[in-house]
Amino acid sequence: MADKITSIRALWQQAAEQAIQFREHLDEGVQRPIHSYQQAAEAFRAPTPEVGTEGAQVVAELAELASPGIHAMPGARFFGWVIGASHEVGVAADWLTASWGQNAGNHMAAPAAAAAELIASQWLLDILDLPSEASVGYVTGCTMANFVCLAAARSEVLRKLGWDVEAKGLFGAPPIRVVLGEDAHSTVYSALQYLGFGTERVTRVPTDNQGAMLPDSFEQIIADAAADPAVIVIAQAGQINTGVFDPLVSIVAATRNHANCWVHVDGAFGLWARACPDRAHLAAGVAEADSWATDGHKWLQTPYDCGYAIVKNAEAHRRAMNIAASYLPPTTEGERDPSQYVPELSRRARGFATWAMLKHLGRQGIAEMVERHCRLARLIAGELSQVPGIEIMNDVVLNQVAVRFGADKPVETGDELTLKVISAVQREGTCFAAGARWKGRWIMRISVIGYPCQEVDVLRSAESIARLAKGIISGE
Ligand SMILES: Cc1ncc(COP(=O)(O)O)c(C=O)c1O
Repeated sequence: MADKITSIRALWQQAAEQAIQFREHLDEGVQRPIHSYQQAAEAFRAPTPEVGTEGAQVVAELAELASPGIHAMPGARFFGWVIGASHEVGVAADWLTASWGQNAGNHMAAPAAAAAELIASQWLLDILDLPSEASVGYVTGCTMANFVCLAAARSEVLRKLGWDVEAKGLFGAPPIRVVLGEDAHSTVYSALQYLGFGTERVTRVPTDNQGAMLPDSFEQIIADAAADPAVIVIAQAGQINTGVFDPLVSIVAATRNHANCWVHVDGAFGLWARACPDRAHLAAGVAEADSWATDGHKWLQTPYDCGYAIVKNAEAHRRAMNIAASYLPPTTEGERDPSQYVPELSRRARGFATWAMLKHLGRQGIAEMVERHCRLARLIAGELSQVPGIEIMNDVVLNQVAVRFGADKPVETGDELTLKVISAVQREGTCFAAGARWKGRWIMRISVIGYPCQEVDVLRSAESIARLAKGIISGE
């Protein structure tokens, strides 16, 4: 029977075997997909199924069709974008999560899912050294975490002005000035777009050559905004190209003089510096903010997807995300519904994988990992900077390295060489890194954030990048 599965055990063991094979051989072969997007689409292209297919065959076919288009993201030499490695323990917890099939929206419907979130949230706040009274919403990633936190900010600054934005919306509301750095992450603009703030109605603070807001400029802007009824500041802990932190101590101090100002921190990966004694100084002042957005699927290594929206004023958080229906069991004193802190009602129980990763790594394991990644980022930067024509464009304070090839050449030539080196590195596939524009120039961005990455991987990758770059620069 096509709609039947022969045996759950056989089917799931078959899927597990596929997954194990993938992980065990991740280090071998080229560190990029074999299929391009077009080839992957061709592989999957087929007429709409009219009749079903037996389960084991579906799983086998999925693995066969997808495998050539799978990127070695959980591997030790993957440095693209800023992507965690979906740790084996998190994946195991996620398999259980999927098999349990819990809809995590409500505490009564899914008590264990809600409870795991509750406890994992307490651990998270402790490890990130954030106020213990803050509330945590489990979202898909930092984009949505920024959205949720800024919705809470919008709600609270307008409530203080006697405006109920949840009921009345933004038409006719008192104006809110949104202040952010010139090198804020693009997804912050997405959140502003969803929230009706508009991406152009913002005040941009000039930044230094690392992308951090200039404290004097920030202070001036806040002083100029003294008469504004409401201000929301969006600061950053960990700029995507450089890893730099906005000067939170002076940002928070400057905003104290404003009667109605909310400070939000986008800390997709950088917030985890707070978990590492060696790096925590970078994030000084961060705890004084009102809300924080970060990811589980980056430095905590949970499987995709997982982000956290953290808000000091839990009431503002709940107000902004309110969902109520007669059929949903209400919460009473001391109870917490996961759906009260996120836009969705029905959703995956992300608390299980978060709980599992925090339990597996522990405070010490997280600190060791963050410290190791930062050390390895400095190592790869040091190796590459010895090659003539290669320049490291950032102070490597965290795990991000911005590399420019042909740095001594005119901008267009340097751009061309940088893009050529990126292509050559990706083609060879010893490691994977991608490009980005930084301060008007192309760079190769190396993000050391995958759990398995060790010194040997960094040295092997640096050798490949340096060798290919030398050939391209000398052949120019
Ligand atoms: C600083 C910053 N904010 C936000 C995001 C978006 O996070 P996500 O892709 O998890 O939605 C990123 C992603 O790299 C980031 O680096």
